[in-house]
Amino acid sequence: MNKLKLSLFMLFVATIASASTKCDPIRSKFIGDQIAIFYPSNFDPAANLPSLAFVKEPVETGDISKDWNFTPSFYATGKETYATFPVEKGISLYGTGEVTGSLLRNGKSIELWNTDTPGYQRVNGNRLYHSHPWVLGVREDGTAFGIIADNTWKQKLILNDSIRFISEGPAFRVVVIERKTPQEVVMALTDLVGKINLPPLWSLGYQQCRWSYEPDSRAKEVAEGFISHKIPCDVIWFDIDYMDSFRIFTFDKTKFPDPRGMNNYLHDRGMRSVWMIDPGVKLEKGYSVYDEGKKQDNWVKDAFRKDFVGPVWPGNCVFPDFTGRKTREWWSGLYKNFMATGIDGVWNDMNEPSVFNGPDGTMPTNNWHRGGGDLPAGPHLRYHNVYGMLMVQATMEGILKANPDKRPFILSRSGFLGSHRYGATWTGDNLAIVEHMKMSIPMSINLSLSGQAFNGPDIGGFGQNTSPELFAQWMSMGIFFPFTRGHACKGTNNKEPWNFGPVVEKACQTAINRRYRLMPYIYTLFHEAATTGMPVMRPTFFADIKDLNLRPVDDNFLLGSDLLIIPKWAKNSLIPKGNWRVISINGEESKNDEYQADVLQREGTIIPVGNLIQSTAKYSTDSLTLFVSLDTNGKAEGSLYEDANDGFEYTKGEYCIWTFNADTEDNIVSVVAKQLKGKFKSKPKLFKIKVIENNNVTESSWLRPNQLKVRLIN
Ligand code: GLC
Repeated sequence: MNKLKLSLFMLFVATIASASTKCDPIRSKFIGDQIAIFYPSNFDPAANLPSLAFVKEPVETGDISKDWNFTPSFYATGKETYATFPVEKGISLYGTGEVTGSLLRNGKSIELWNTDTPGYQRVNGNRLYHSHPWVLGVREDGTAFGIIADNTWKQKLILNDSIRFISEGPAFRVVVIERKTPQEVVMALTDLVGKINLPPLWSLGYQQCRWSYEPDSRAKEVAEGFISHKIPCDVIWFDIDYMDSFRIFTFDKTKFPDPRGMNNYLHDRGMRSVWMIDPGVKLEKGYSVYDEGKKQDNWVKDAFRKDFVGPVWPGNCVFPDFTGRKTREWWSGLYKNFMATGIDGVWNDMNEPSVFNGPDGTMPTNNWHRGGGDLPAGPHLRYHNVYGMLMVQATMEGILKANPDKRPFILSRSGFLGSHRYGATWTGDNLAIVEHMKMSIPMSINLSLSGQAFNGPDIGGFGQNTSPELFAQWMSMGIFFPFTRGHACKGTNNKEPWNFGPVVEKACQTAINRRYRLMPYIYTLFHEAATTGMPVMRPTFFADIKDLNLRPVDDNFLLGSDLLIIPKWAKNSLIPKGNWRVISINGEESKNDEYQADVLQREGTIIPVGNLIQSTAKYSTDSLTLFVSLDTNGKAEGSLYEDANDGFEYTKGEYCIWTFNADTEDNIVSVVAKQLKGKFKSKPKLFKIKVIENNNVTESSWLRPNQLKVRLIN
C-alpha cells in the first residue's frame, strides 16, 4: 500500500472506530469440517433467522480449532452493521454473484439490492438483479476461503484493503469456509446453500426468444425457420405480449387463441415452449387472479398496512407477498391450468420486484411483508432481496404439482444466494455492444462461483440493434455457456440467425451444431454440478490454481475441467500450462475461421461427442465419438452420464455413468469403456475413437465397446 492509501485507510478505520461500537464475536463454532460460524455480540435471531440462503439451519459441531486465525470483526453504527475481514497480500477475490466488470473482484464494491437495470445503467452497474453476500478468496499458494454474510437485508460488499459487508439491517452472522483449493470451497458452499437440480435435457439446447413473438403464427414461423435453415433449436419463448393486456395467467384471445395448439405445434416438431409470468398482478376487479388474491389478502402492504400498489406493464399492480406460506401455496396453485396447456417451462421476470415509479425502480423499503408459516413479518428492507427467490420457489412447487413427472424448468431474473435451488438465471437486459459481450464471460463465471451453475446472457445483446459481426462473434462464444438463449428487445432488429446474411447464418449454424454435438459432455457436466456443486462454466485459473498469471484471465473460460474456450475476439489470451489441443468438433477449423471459438482439449482426457441433431428430442448416446487427448504417458480418461433426460427415475437409480480409460502400447490406443454405476439400461453402443495429437488426428471406424482400439497414424 502506498503512503497516501495507507493514511486514507487509517483515517477510515479511525472514523469507524469512533462512530461505531465493536461487537466482537460472542460465539464462534465449527458447523462442519473447517467451516466456522461467527455471531456478533448484538445478534438478534428474530431479525435474521431462519436463513434463506442455507438449505437448513447449520448444526454446530464443536469449538473452532486453536490455529484458526481468519476471523471477522463486527461493528455497529446505529444505522448500519458491519462484518470485516482482513485481506492478506496476494489474495484474489471472486464470487459476489451477478456483477459487471472484471472476473477479479479485488478493489470492487457492489450494492446488494436487487434492481431492474436496463443496460446495466443504474449506479454504474454496481447493482444488478441478484444479491449474493458471498466472497471467494484464493491465496497465492492456491488455498482458499469463502465468506457468507448470512442476512437478506439491504447491504453493500466492499472489497479493497479489507472485505467488508455493510448491512442496513441488524447485526448478522457470518460463515467462513476454509479449504485447500477454490474448487473445494465452491463445492462446500453448495453443501450449505444447495446445488442446482438436474435440469431436463431440452433446457440445455439452444433457445430462441424475443420480446415478443406475436401472434402465434410468428412464433411458428420462427420455429420453422430453425428447421428449414437446419439450425438446431430446442425452445421458443413467449414474452409478455401473449398475455391479455399483461394480465398474468391469461392469453390474448386474438393473438394467442389456442395456447395448447401452439404448444402441440412445437412439440410435434421436437421443440418446447417457455412462457413468461411476472409477479405484478393487474389491479382490476373482475380479473380472477386479482379477485382471488385480494379475497385471500395476499398482497404486500405499504407502510400503512394497505395493499401496496405500483405500476408495471399492466398499469397499476398489486404484488403477492411471497413471505407468507399461504400466499406461496396460492401462487403455486395458479400454475395448474396454465401448465395444462402443454407449457414446458416458466420465465419469472421483473421479480426484484420492478415497480416503474418506485424508489430505485422497486418498492419503498418500509413496505410490509407479513410472513407466515416459517418466516416472520418484516419490512421490505429485509425481504426485498429474496422476493424473486421466494417467488421462484413457489413457482417451482406449482409446476411440480402440475407435472409431477417432469423436471421443472424456470428462468428467473432476480435471485439471492441459494436461488439456484429453484431455477436458472440470465444476466438481464444487456446491450448489443462488444463490451457487454466480453463482460458476459466474467459475469457468468462469478455467478457460477456463487452457486448458480445454470446461467448465461442474452446472446446477441438485448437492447439496441445487433450488427452481423457482433451477432456472429457472440453466438460463436455464447453457445458454450451453461444457458444459451438468444433474446432481443422490442423495437430492435430481427435477431434470428438467418437475418444477418448467409455468412453469419452459417457461423451460427456451425456454432450451435458444436454445442449439440458436445451435448453428452455438457449433460454430464450438469449432472456433476447437481451432485457435487462444481459449476459447468469455470474460470481458467481452475486448471492451475498456483499459476498467478491465470488469476485475472476472463477472455477465455473452461467448460468443465477438460475444454478451454477461447473466443475469436480474444487476442493473446493466456492459457494454462500443459498440452491443450485444438479440436474440431464438427469438421470446422476454428484456426481459419473468422468467428468460431477455439476449443482446446486438456491432455489426458476423453470427451464423449454425440451426433448432429435438430433438437434434443433426437438426442441419443447410441453412437458416440470419443475425443481422446493423450497425456505424455499415452493415457486419458473421461466419463458420460446418461438417464431418461427428463423425469425423476434417475433419483431411484435409473441412470448410468460410463467411464472411459485410454492407454497406448506400440502405437495402438485402446479404450476401456465401462458402465460404472446405476441401473439405467443404456442401449448397446457403437463408439468411434478419435485421437487428437499435436499434428495428427486418427479416427477409427464404428466399434463395439469390447473392440475399442485404433492404430495411430505415425
Ligand atoms: C424485461 C426483461 C426482458 C423482457 C422484457 C419484457 O426487460 O428483462 O427480458 O423481454 O422485460 O417482458
